[in-house]
Amino acid sequence: MERYVSSTFQRDDKNEEMKRNHEQMPRTGIETDAIHVGQEPERWPGHAVIPPISMATTFKQLEPGKPLLYEYSRCGNPTRQCLEECLASLEKAKYALTFSSGLGATTTLMFMLKSGDHIVSIDDVYGGTGRLFRRCMAQMGVESSFVDMSMDPSSIVNHLKPTTRLVWIETPTNPLLKLADIELISTLVHKYDPKIMVLVDNTFATSYYQRPLELGADLVLHSLTKYMNGHSDVVMGSLMMNSEELYKQLGFLQYAIGAVPSPFDCYLVNRGLKTLAVRMRQHMTSALLIAKYLEQHKYIERVIYPGLECHPQYELYKKQMSGFSGMISVYLKGDDVEKSKRFLKHLKLFTTAESLGGYESLIELPAIMTHASVPEEHRRQLGITDGLIRMSIGLEDVQDLLDDIEVSLQYAFLNTIEK
Ligand SMILES: Cc1ncc(COP(=O)(O)O)c(C=O)c1O
Repeated sequence: MERYVSSTFQRDDKNEEMKRNHEQMPRTGIETDAIHVGQEPERWPGHAVIPPISMATTFKQLEPGKPLLYEYSRCGNPTRQCLEECLASLEKAKYALTFSSGLGATTTLMFMLKSGDHIVSIDDVYGGTGRLFRRCMAQMGVESSFVDMSMDPSSIVNHLKPTTRLVWIETPTNPLLKLADIELISTLVHKYDPKIMVLVDNTFATSYYQRPLELGADLVLHSLTKYMNGHSDVVMGSLMMNSEELYKQLGFLQYAIGAVPSPFDCYLVNRGLKTLAVRMRQHMTSALLIAKYLEQHKYIERVIYPGLECHPQYELYKKQMSGFSGMISVYLKGDDVEKSKRFLKHLKLFTTAESLGGYESLIELPAIMTHASVPEEHRRQLGITDGLIRMSIGLEDVQDLLDDIEVSLQYAFLNTIEK
């Protein structure tokens, strides 16, 4: 155990050294950081321009008990470290840690809590996070309250208790794309008790469009599975933070629990990050066009997209985000599950599948897919109805996507056509 602890400190030392080097670099935007931070060719023998994948599970020690930089790959390895440095720079965080999945990151964080502790979570939280809180954490004696943080953020203080250890914000939420005021909530929570951790799940916005740590949050979580990797071929998660204490505690839990990603997957996510900025800009351009098209469509009841002026929190969107991704939620007229299914089945370019954030367009029915685990009554209260459809707008030609949507909407509403 001692050896693992000392390895954490070594990693800190190395990070400090890397940070000093980093500060000397001429730096401009996130595009530059995505390509250069943590990728310095001088780090590798032979000065490879692309970071090599280090598959070794263990590392030679010149003296017993005195590892050089790494000792065992669960505790750290060169490929993971270069990804973690790059991720931290994009989120403007001091530290980043990666995990085997987004939920792996969440589960690891849960080990900071103990029986009797209390979590306050946004109500429209990702279904898997809600399930972990409701089913698994409840079993461990950790209580959770689910609160609408979108319309009256200052009411958050009414839900805090002396046992509250974590406030979980997801903004924009999945699937209703509700926003929570990160700055206001962080200020109020920290005023109540500076020791309460405020976490923001930044998966839907990405580090490109929203930086919660700059707004006062303590922790940022990403399902890297989504936009950050962007190619739908890796499941991975991360936690980012500025506090050295949190980094040390979570770094310890990362290797003590062991929900770590493989070096090959780290390589893939690191590669995906290189195009994050261009992908996100295109996702947004196409999504905004499609959202505006759907907004005036006769078969659409309502379109939810934070970048539309009709979004109830458009002002907050402009304040805390610099744009949004390709996620659109729409209510079909009629709230009829058969119509929704017909629409999805007829689409040719959109694939019906869970997940999001890849270069390919995906579509799903939250009520019977991603959010089926949310208790029905809670789903109804939130507005996750049979007519709600979530789209992840990919990087295909936007006119092709619009044509696909139009033809399929016509089909869905043609009652005479066989189902
Ligand atoms: C907003 C959000 N957070 C967290 C997760 C969990 O991430 P993962 O699937 O990588 O475990 C998801 C997954 O869909 C998500 O949408």
